[in-house]
Amino acid sequence: MFKVHIITVSDSSYYENKKDLTGPALRDFLTEHSFEVCGYDIVPDEINPISNLLIEISDSQKVNLVITNGGTGFNKRDVTPEATLKIADKIVPGFGEEMRRRSLEITPFGILSRAVSVIRNHTLILNVPGSPKAAVENLGFIITAIPHALKILTNEKNDCAKVDDSR
Ligand code: MTE
Repeated sequence: MFKVHIITVSDSSYYENKKDLTGPALRDFLTEHSFEVCGYDIVPDEINPISNLLIEISDSQKVNLVITNGGTGFNKRDVTPEATLKIADKIVPGFGEEMRRRSLEITPFGILSRAVSVIRNHTLILNVPGSPKAAVENLGFIITAIPHALKILTNEKNDCAKVDDSR
């Protein structure tokens, strides 16, 4: 079972104790899809707290996947993609491309998410938007590809053909 850490990026939840609905919605969705959620944090919309936490989690190698939610839009304080890119070993464009492509079928505002996906060490880090609806929708668009990606990432000797014998 792959292990996940959820990070809610939100000034209002961090500074004003506003109840976070998105972290729990993502936790339920991930649990339903057979992931084990083993960590959860709330951080403000600021580059260093986000990137420092991403470094700490991915360098500890205790989880395979980190999902951040929030801070991907156009507000001045929205810096989650920048904080994520700052600590990346590799950029993974496909998840963001697919999330925006499918989101645009639901809302024209789907294009406003600047979410990125990256690899650091053996950890895949995915940004999703911050509302519970948008977060679960976006993760749902890519969820079927994630276990395959993590299998390769956690055992670098495997290439795609070896992981999935049917191909
Ligand atoms: N994607 C989906 N599937 N559904 C949505 O409702 N909302 C959009 C977009 N992506 C949305 C979506 C909106 S309105 C914004 S502003 C951006 O995500 C960024 O959201 P964030 O700033 O909360 O990260």
